[in-house]
Amino acid sequence: MAKSQDVEIPDAGLIPRPRNFAYLTGVFKPRTGVSISVDPAFAAEAIWALSVLESAFTVRFTLKATGKGTIHVAQVPGLGAEGYRLTIKPAGVRAEASEPAGAFYALQTLRALALIYGDRAPACQIEDEPRFPWRGYMLDTVRNFFEPSFIKRFIDLAALHKLNRFHWHLTDDQGWRMPVRSHPELADTAARKIDRRYLPHVERTLVYSEATITEVVAYAAERHVLVIPEIEMPGHVTALLSAHPEFSCVGGEFEPEDRFGIFPDVLCAGSDKAFDFIGDVLSETTRLFPGPFIHFGGDEVPIERWAACPRCQARIDAEGLPDATALRGWFTRRVTAMLMERNRRAVGWDEVVEGAVPSEVVVMAWRSAERGAAAARAGHDVVMCPSTKACYLDHKHLDSAEEPGHLGVSTVRDSYSFEPLAGFDVAIAPHVLGIQGNLWTELMYFGRQVEYMAFPRLSALSETGWTPEGRKTFEGFSKRLPYWGRALDRLDVARYRGPLG
Ligand code: ACM
Ligand code: ZN
Repeated sequence: MAKSQDVEIPDAGLIPRPRNFAYLTGVFKPRTGVSISVDPAFAAEAIWALSVLESAFTVRFTLKATGKGTIHVAQVPGLGAEGYRLTIKPAGVRAEASEPAGAFYALQTLRALALIYGDRAPACQIEDEPRFPWRGYMLDTVRNFFEPSFIKRFIDLAALHKLNRFHWHLTDDQGWRMPVRSHPELADTAARKIDRRYLPHVERTLVYSEATITEVVAYAAERHVLVIPEIEMPGHVTALLSAHPEFSCVGGEFEPEDRFGIFPDVLCAGSDKAFDFIGDVLSETTRLFPGPFIHFGGDEVPIERWAACPRCQARIDAEGLPDATALRGWFTRRVTAMLMERNRRAVGWDEVVEGAVPSEVVVMAWRSAERGAAAARAGHDVVMCPSTKACYLDHKHLDSAEEPGHLGVSTVRDSYSFEPLAGFDVAIAPHVLGIQGNLWTELMYFGRQVEYMAFPRLSALSETGWTPEGRKTFEGFSKRLPYWGRALDRLDVARYRGPLG
């Protein structure tokens, strides 16, 4: 039997909180040899589940190819792409889902219960499905580089929280970390980095290999996480310019940046060769990343070089544009068209809305939630990730001199309290695809530090992405968090443990 204090855990400690949860009597405590089976559509999920359930329950299971095992997932119609039903009784587990993602989340919930409770799961009945289709996180692997093993570990942790989008920030002023077959000079020059994590400092070439990217994309797909690569343009390109100074307006010499901020040198909008290069890079990006979305950045683009550049001025004249500000929109529209030719959906930061880009472009609202509402009113689908006390996980958890983080404070309560549809009227609300937590890593040198900054704020955001608004209270979340912490402890997750705000 479950200990009485365990039975009283609210919603069994699950984060994100399920849509419907009810305890039944007793516990499920499998012995070695107990069988798992699934209907044929869920074969891949069963293979994934076997290993994670074995470590969560600390027993060996067997996969049963025919007939129904002690743990069985059946395919039934009507539960949506990601929904599931799960019934846990002392004698066994029955789950139902319509699609593989739903089966995955049923098994993920069973795993989470075993992580929370030790090696057993309380008998209970759950009916669940997400509120939003886009539940994401962004990881900046430019400002600091993270080994593929950590990239995968973080995908696992995200999937445990039922997040399903990994926005992979691959290029910026400080480096270019995606391999491009037709442009090996990028790895030679733009991926160089002085590694300051160890003494003596060493210069390393930090670029992901094609094999790594393919492996990460497949690893994520097995966990129902879609990878969205971000290739920044026309700003945040200093590293690129170190390999191709001719794509700047003024030429000269560039080095991958050591500093952080916004730099005046951007891609020259008058250079046709720069667009040929962008075409090569986008073709390579579509080859490496099969998913439907490609993020092209578009944030923080100074126009001072364009305003003084003869080639940019010639472009302004040829295109009949009023000024260099309008060139931003022209640039963005051209890149969007290049992505559409490659059958991909463009994603950009909220600045791109000012350039009157086609409404097909997905907008990430980062400067404010209001920017998201404005984008939705202009017909864009939006992902809400405002930096204003909500989704920027590089901010401090707490206003304290000792606390790591910078550029602001966002407590766990702030992150939890962010309501993505606040200020959206019903007509534009359907444009909100969901939410995302962003991990800019200027001050995160090691994966453990990323975990500390992410958790539990990303846990809070996962609940906002998944759980209906009416089922969410900060009090309820705070009560479940210590139990959810047991699951994170079992996985050795570094996390913030101070006041929640
Ligand atoms: C951003 O934080 N510059 C998107
Ligand atoms: Zn120029």
